[in-house]
Amino acid sequence: MWINDDLDDMKYEVDRILYHFAKKDPVKKKVVVLGSGWGALSFVRKLDPAAFDVTVVSPRPFFFYTPLLVGSTTGVVSPGAIIEPIRDNVPNANFLRVHCKDVDLENKKVFCDSGVTLDYDHLLVAVGAQPNTFGIPGVDKYGRFLKEIEHGRALRKEMLDIIERADVAMAAGEEDKAKRLLNFVVVGGGPTGVEFCGELSDFIKQDLKRRYPKIADYFQVTLVEALPGLLTMLLGARGNYVQEHLTHLGVEVKLNAMVKEVQEEKVQLKTKDGVIDMDYGILVWVAGVGMRPFTRALCEKIGKENGQTDRRGLLVDECLRVKGTRPGEVFAVGDCAVSGKPPTAQVAYQQGKYLGRMFRLGKDYLISDPQAPPFKYCHQGTMAYIGDSQGAAEIDPNAFIKLGRSSVTDHFWWRSLYGEQDQLRVMGPAGFAIWRSTYFSKLFSSRNRWSVMSDWLRTGMFGRPASSSA
Ligand code: FAD
Ligand code: NAI
Repeated sequence: MWINDDLDDMKYEVDRILYHFAKKDPVKKKVVVLGSGWGALSFVRKLDPAAFDVTVVSPRPFFFYTPLLVGSTTGVVSPGAIIEPIRDNVPNANFLRVHCKDVDLENKKVFCDSGVTLDYDHLLVAVGAQPNTFGIPGVDKYGRFLKEIEHGRALRKEMLDIIERADVAMAAGEEDKAKRLLNFVVVGGGPTGVEFCGELSDFIKQDLKRRYPKIADYFQVTLVEALPGLLTMLLGARGNYVQEHLTHLGVEVKLNAMVKEVQEEKVQLKTKDGVIDMDYGILVWVAGVGMRPFTRALCEKIGKENGQTDRRGLLVDECLRVKGTRPGEVFAVGDCAVSGKPPTAQVAYQQGKYLGRMFRLGKDYLISDPQAPPFKYCHQGTMAYIGDSQGAAEIDPNAFIKLGRSSVTDHFWWRSLYGEQDQLRVMGPAGFAIWRSTYFSKLFSSRNRWSVMSDWLRTGMFGRPASSSA
């Protein structure tokens, strides 16, 4: 499937060997990498330890596989199965578990907490993004996020605790309270919100209703989305299929409904029919991502006058060099970088890999020269789990198959089968099979694959664990 990728790797490996025969630089350049996520890891893995002295700085000593985070909230997979110690993955680098606080661009130094200061020749900023509250009152205080592994753990614990409380309320004759507690409101009809609703409705149908018969009829999942459709950025009109499917699973989908304020136990929505209040037991806020304070401070330090004018992150050029910094010194990849690509793992991974290859060639001019080959994104597709063993997958066949010089979607047989459509769209059980097999194959290590496979088998055979400590 990733044949093109492997051929590229071989080409770069040959280039690298030839370069090292031609010239050996006795002084190792210092590379500091901020972050231990998709972008950072794919970059470091490509670096040549003989040419660079690499230090990775991150408060998170592990890499975690975000595509399966939603499944960890219901127990389909355990959090341990989707994390991988960073030290096992970057044996060619030093790792320091600290936050980077500030960067001195003039003297090429980074300042971290615990008094750590590091010098660099090249700096890679790959600190990702954080949940965006858009400054809506009450979201920070009452909303639950789903971005980091800790969010998944906390959400799972809180959901199971609230279900127990609802069961007790029912036993005490407080039916209204039980109903309110069991209303799970999910804000954001992007892929995270849709996947969470799908996983949660599976959990309710397959495990919770059986375990809690007295409150079985009161479980309610409501998905709130400000736009007129779900997964609009990914699937366009095919989002209707997802909406109908979720409704069929019992999820109440409220479109054109914008959250204006969140209070304890109550959320205020602005809809076409006016402002309405809705009670909730848990409110999950998955309404998109925004800049981290560290990234914002760095943008401000470089300044609008030097090109940092975007409110979403660090503006980079076509070679991922941060605009307004000295050429070849500071780079940014992934969710913290504004490169015209969406904030996805696929983009972060390919950007890190591209930059790693540029460094691996060991030719400084490649990373500071205006003529350096630009980053080219190869969109392989988008897929999401939508519940009840169904998925929505959109695949670009041109990313996988090359037919001479022309693209697959230009061929007459493609046109006769799919018309003007240039993506292969697969919905339902086949979409689920593609989603599962793709994400399984992309897991970072054999240990992860083993753990995820055994968790999926365990869930299939015995259901999801019932306790928040499991
Ligand atoms: P991250 O992976 O977020 O890594 C950022 C790193 O920086 C972390 O290690 C963090 O600890 C560290 N850091 C933060 N602040 C500092 C600091 N001050 N100093 C040093 N280090 C710091 N994308 C897809 O393509 N497909 C999917 O199926 C998919 N599923 C997703 C599911 C969920 C639930 C979520 C939340 C996201 C999903 N994404 C998916 C999006 C994808 O996870 C992100 O786009 C990706 O993680 C971005 O990678 P990154 O390297 O930029 O940042
Ligand atoms: P998103 O930005 O994709 O979607 C957020 C949704 O919330 C939007 O549809 C927006 O209209 C809505 N929203 C925002 N404010 C609102 C409000 N006040 N009231 C109601 N609705 C509101 O965010 P998401 O899903 O968290 O994804 C973040 C990134 O991660 C995206 O780039 C996404 O593509 C990627 N991702 C990819 C996945 C996949 O490929 N399977 C899975 C999960 C995330």
